[in-house]
Amino acid sequence: MNIDINNFFTPQEWQKIQEFSSQKETPFLVVLLNIVERRFNELKEAMPYADIYYAVKANPAVEILQLLDQLGSCFDVASVYELRILQSLNISPERMSFGNTIKKSKDIKEFYDAGVRLYVSDSEMDLKNIAQNAPNCKVLIRILAEGVLTAAWPLSRKFGCSQEMAYDLLVMTRDLGLVPYGVSFHPGSQQREIGAWDSAIAKVKYLYDMLLESENIKLQCINMGGGLPSQYLDKINTTKTYGDEIKRFLTDDFGDDMPRIIIEPGRYMVANAGVLISEIVLIARKSRTALARWIYTDIGKFGGLMETLDESIKYPIYTPKYAENDKEKAIIAGPSCDSVDTMYEDFQYPLPLSLEQGDRLYWLSTGAYTSSYCSVNFNGFPPLKAYYL
Ligand SMILES: Cc1ncc(COP(=O)(O)O)c(C=O)c1O
Repeated sequence: MNIDINNFFTPQEWQKIQEFSSQKETPFLVVLLNIVERRFNELKEAMPYADIYYAVKANPAVEILQLLDQLGSCFDVASVYELRILQSLNISPERMSFGNTIKKSKDIKEFYDAGVRLYVSDSEMDLKNIAQNAPNCKVLIRILAEGVLTAAWPLSRKFGCSQEMAYDLLVMTRDLGLVPYGVSFHPGSQQREIGAWDSAIAKVKYLYDMLLESENIKLQCINMGGGLPSQYLDKINTTKTYGDEIKRFLTDDFGDDMPRIIIEPGRYMVANAGVLISEIVLIARKSRTALARWIYTDIGKFGGLMETLDESIKYPIYTPKYAENDKEKAIIAGPSCDSVDTMYEDFQYPLPLSLEQGDRLYWLSTGAYTSSYCSVNFNGFPPLKAYYL
């Protein structure tokens, strides 16, 4: 597979990465902040009808949060720990929502005391906890609305509830003295099939109509979660195509009576800004006649490549050694003493035969769910180092 670095970075960006990284010991992640800024601006232009709440979990580095704060982003917050980082940066609680449906009562109280007034829920018990600890606040009820088969990293089953349940919970929201603000969904992360938004929006519309008709509850907001893709190995549509198509779905269903739209991009915003630089530790064949080599790198699942679980996310791997007719499929694995720590085995990468120990592999599009998705000290390996330029 020939990865063209020009599809990921401009020559100036690539030069900057090279100059910064040449003397550094691997493995480490480099994130270019100008790319995060570019992504944010591109999204604002493609979806001017939506308020952007960056999903902090994708990469909670303060450099990224500060930049997005300056650009006017709001923030989807998953825990009190993320909340405290945002507070330390003096980000206003009016620009935060508590998006995790799984939360302790005392954590809701901490968010409320901090000034956060927008919550997401999908269960009766959680809703009661919100009523008790965050009185009069706005609540979005999350529905199950995923294009599971078409998302590279589905969030299926664990979050959201059925439409009928959402109906009951929205009525209960009102009865508990909270504001039934709207409905949220997540179409599945790295969702390449734009139709996933269409079917989810149709489900929301049904709830809107039913609640108005039967309970006189007028919902005001749709939170469409994350799901917007980044460029990995497979082709994706442009941001503008997503923006235009989703607008069309919304207009088809809501016409002029458009609710407030929130989006919570995580992967979209930061993945393409990052490159994880690793080194080959060893190359081995398991038998005299083995057709594939095992290539062991100094980065693995536990050090940041967790999303290779089930070979779900297929990172483009760049090596300067690429040459036509000099490649053979390889199994790529990490450095720990755990066989789960194998990134790609079914999907065998064609990598140059001339690769040797000590050569660098560049894992592209690794700005999201890597540095925040590491184990700490498994097999003694330290957490991933990350630099923000
Ligand atoms: C509530 C919520 N919003 C947004 C996101 C970000 O999704 P993505 O990275 O696909 O943009 C997630 C991811 O887990 C999420 O749980």
